[in-house]
Amino acid sequence: MTIFTPKPTNNAGTSAPIEFPNYIQHGRLRAWIQSMVDLCKPDSVHFCDGSQEEYDQLCELLVEKGTFIRLNPEKRPNSFLARSQPSDVARVEDRTFVCTLNPKDSGPTNNWVNPREMHKTLDRLFDGCMRGRTMYVIPFSMGPLGSPISYCGVELSDSAYVATNMRIMTRMGKAVYDVLGDDQPFVPAVHSVGMPLEPGQEDVPWPCVANSEDKYIVHFPEERSIWSYGSGYGGNALLGKKCFALRIASNIAHDEGWLAEHMLIMGVESPEGEKTYLAAAFPSACGKTNFAMLVPPPAFEGWKVTTVGDDIAWIKVGSDGTLRAINPEAGFFGVAPGTNMKTNPNATLTIASNTIFTNVGLTDDGDVWWEGFTDTPPAHLIDWQGQDWTPAIAKETGRKAAHPNSRFTAPASQCPSIDSEWENPDGVPISAFVFGGRRSSVTPLVFQTFNWIYGVYFAATLGSEMTAAAAGKIGEVRRDPFAMLPFCGYHMASYFNHWLQFGRFIKNPPRIFIVNWFRKDDEGKFLWPGFGENMRVLKWIVDRARTKAAGEETRLGRVPSYNDIEWKGMEGFTKEDFDRVMSIDQDLWKQEILSHEELFIRLYDRLPKELLAVRELLLSSLWSRPEWEDRQE
Ligand code: GTP
Ligand code: SPV
Ligand code: MN
Repeated sequence: MTIFTPKPTNNAGTSAPIEFPNYIQHGRLRAWIQSMVDLCKPDSVHFCDGSQEEYDQLCELLVEKGTFIRLNPEKRPNSFLARSQPSDVARVEDRTFVCTLNPKDSGPTNNWVNPREMHKTLDRLFDGCMRGRTMYVIPFSMGPLGSPISYCGVELSDSAYVATNMRIMTRMGKAVYDVLGDDQPFVPAVHSVGMPLEPGQEDVPWPCVANSEDKYIVHFPEERSIWSYGSGYGGNALLGKKCFALRIASNIAHDEGWLAEHMLIMGVESPEGEKTYLAAAFPSACGKTNFAMLVPPPAFEGWKVTTVGDDIAWIKVGSDGTLRAINPEAGFFGVAPGTNMKTNPNATLTIASNTIFTNVGLTDDGDVWWEGFTDTPPAHLIDWQGQDWTPAIAKETGRKAAHPNSRFTAPASQCPSIDSEWENPDGVPISAFVFGGRRSSVTPLVFQTFNWIYGVYFAATLGSEMTAAAAGKIGEVRRDPFAMLPFCGYHMASYFNHWLQFGRFIKNPPRIFIVNWFRKDDEGKFLWPGFGENMRVLKWIVDRARTKAAGEETRLGRVPSYNDIEWKGMEGFTKEDFDRVMSIDQDLWKQEILSHEELFIRLYDRLPKELLAVRELLLSSLWSRPEWEDRQE
């Protein structure tokens, strides 16, 4: 750990050259860091080495500053709670920009500003933005160090909270410089909370800009660079995650012929020891972490589910022609509410120690709590906004102990279900893709699409009700193609075409399935118990991928019949219950397919013609006139 303080700004307006540790031998990297120091004017520069000692010191510093509260070491060893500003609690999609030279390359689903204009704005915002603060130089690898699928980045941030979270979420530290050598590519990512301190000005526990309009989460795909200003939260600030591993990486993947996806990766091992890996894309807060860590119900004795990743997958065609996937991350940034020993025991055990919690409740004995953590809430706690909270107050005011988008940051290596191959530099072989949204109606529990092209169609038109993971109207159904709407770093229709093209060159393309755990009855009750019971659907998927299970043909694709599903231990769930959660209402589906037109018109300039053809075929199979049904023509 080394702290260098640059000399005071000279008359020419530039600072004196900073002293680099000699393990940084990369000329372009040095020049970029120097230029950012000149622009941001931090009081000091800290080169993160990634050691445990450094992590502990940063946590201690955050405790002193009031950003972290150390949790009771007997209950939650080496763990901390942070509370953000109430205005800084989720990704800000309307302040997220993809600045390509040509606006058509960014596409209609991304915010765009001319890169030259945007650079001017950013130069103004970043000028002196780190005054009174330390700039942390955070070198990280997305994916195992040195893997042929991995890619390095360097984040410069004025937030120690970011530095500590990045150490959990990525392979962060000095070893990255060995991979970079003196000329290897890296993604430069600069982040500022946007709150410089005047001499003598006191800091606040969670610095960020006051107005949402002053936040900027900016990507320059052609430069492969990231600038983030004004927010300290999650995907806005931990730039390895959505900004790099999805928005920038999707551009690299498009150019190089691979996939960067918002997908979990999991392994399913049968009692016979047959192992199948699959990758699944659900929109934010729609169940990836839970599915990736699924614990099979007791009736599935001998079945094992293992976790490779819970949010992002990088997928390449391996030398043997199969698809190989890695999880580019090293930790989980998971949704806290709803997580408990019943819904997700693996996550609950993962966060038993060495975890950073953000925006959850603090119990009187120094532990954490959130809605759904235990059946009986504590009699009293301090809520995520630092106020007294009791069940009575909650009932009266509706105030939550934890913010709906409160999160835990925990090392993946602590997960009891972590897959033995999770750090294999060659990745794991993928046999199936699963796509799912949060739909209270219309979409059945599961179906298998007829082929790759139908699969791309249903993934492209995925609809989901909005959650608290992004600022916006919760509950409204929006199209979230491939669960990538907020994360695709280029024209969404070109991305569809990339998927179609990609499929043409795989010898044995993975089967594509659609699922919906969230269907409800008229009273708003879930029709499917979800969580561990999803194993029943998962088994059918795995068996189908191995062409072992039967499937009935419907207008949308192939579905299991009641007897194709293992019901041991869930006998109370009748055939009628199953029919309800599986029902495909022809009229609603006609409406659904018709509504896809809105998305297609939006993406008109680059929409692959295959999708129009599939839409036509689906409409033709859904078309009927009931009064003609008994007439043969
Ligand atoms: P991001 O980290 O935002 O990408 O979210 P995610 O996709 O990993 O979602 P996560 O697994 O954290 O689940 C989000 C919410 O959905 C939690 O409150 C879960 O309790 C709930 N959830 C997850 N799986 C199921 C399920 O099978 N059924 C039901 N009803 N709820 C679920
Ligand atoms: C998501 O919103 O999909 C997340 C959380 O995984 S964040 O890292 O904030 O993007
Ligand atoms: Mn996510």
